Amino acid sequence: MNRTPLIAGNWKMYKTGPEAVESAKELVLLCADIQDVEIMIAPTFLAISQVSKVVKGTRVTLGAQNLYFEKEGAFTGEISAEMLRDAGVEYAIIGHSERRQFFGETDTSICRKIKAAIEVGLKPILCIGESESQRDEEKTFSVLDKQVSDGLKGLGSDELSQLVLAYEPIWAIGTGKTAGVGQVRQVHQYLRSLLENLFSSNLSDQTRILYGGSVKPENAKALMGIEDVDGALVGGASLDANKFINIIKYNS
Ligand code: 13P
Repeated sequence: MNRTPLIAGNWKMYKTGPEAVESAKELVLLCADIQDVEIMIAPTFLAISQVSKVVKGTRVTLGAQNLYFEKEGAFTGEISAEMLRDAGVEYAIIGHSERRQFFGETDTSICRKIKAAIEVGLKPILCIGESESQRDEEKTFSVLDKQVSDGLKGLGSDELSQLVLAYEPIWAIGTGKTAGVGQVRQVHQYLRSLLENLFSSNLSDQTRILYGGSVKPENAKALMGIEDVDGALVGGASLDANKFINIIKYNS
């Protein structure tokens, strides 16, 4: 199965509106000639509409960092999947470890968000990953197993055809510590067979599994060269268009 790699930038809580627009414009110019790689950036909610205008019709697609699972209503401070789609969003990052850690997200709420995204045609990027202590206690695979099976509970292969998984070991996020090639290969292989066992071999074959955690221009080629790694979810290094383009061009 030929899976088009996805290089996705998670801008987290960085950049004002004008800064986001400026970075998006730079990136659009830099990746005008990129082929065979899909590119996505996820600005803050506040910058989405402005960035949407910049990337429309270009090689860069738009993502959101979160959504709320209800369609509309008295949910102060929240944004629905439909509102995002209406603003030009294509991908939704769901269940990022920072949301699990700082905002109390659980596999149950994450699963509802995945369903809400799918319902309006947004492509969900489900983030999973173990903490350092879970790895030390050899719980990595059981943690991932639970995050995937509970996060996707009640969904079938057909509904999940646009799913993207992002393996982000928590100890590698923003720390400069990247998981080793062997560790990444082992986990990605495990996740692919998990998808086959839980759903179908078709879904397992077609689902892109991204790696995230201190991806930089210097390590992108080695990480992207690992079997079963179909792209990257990049934090810090995606904030600078010149760095990000060098990750996008990992193959050249
Ligand atoms: P860093 O690339 O800054 O480690 O962040 C990874 C991440 O959390 C992307 O979602």
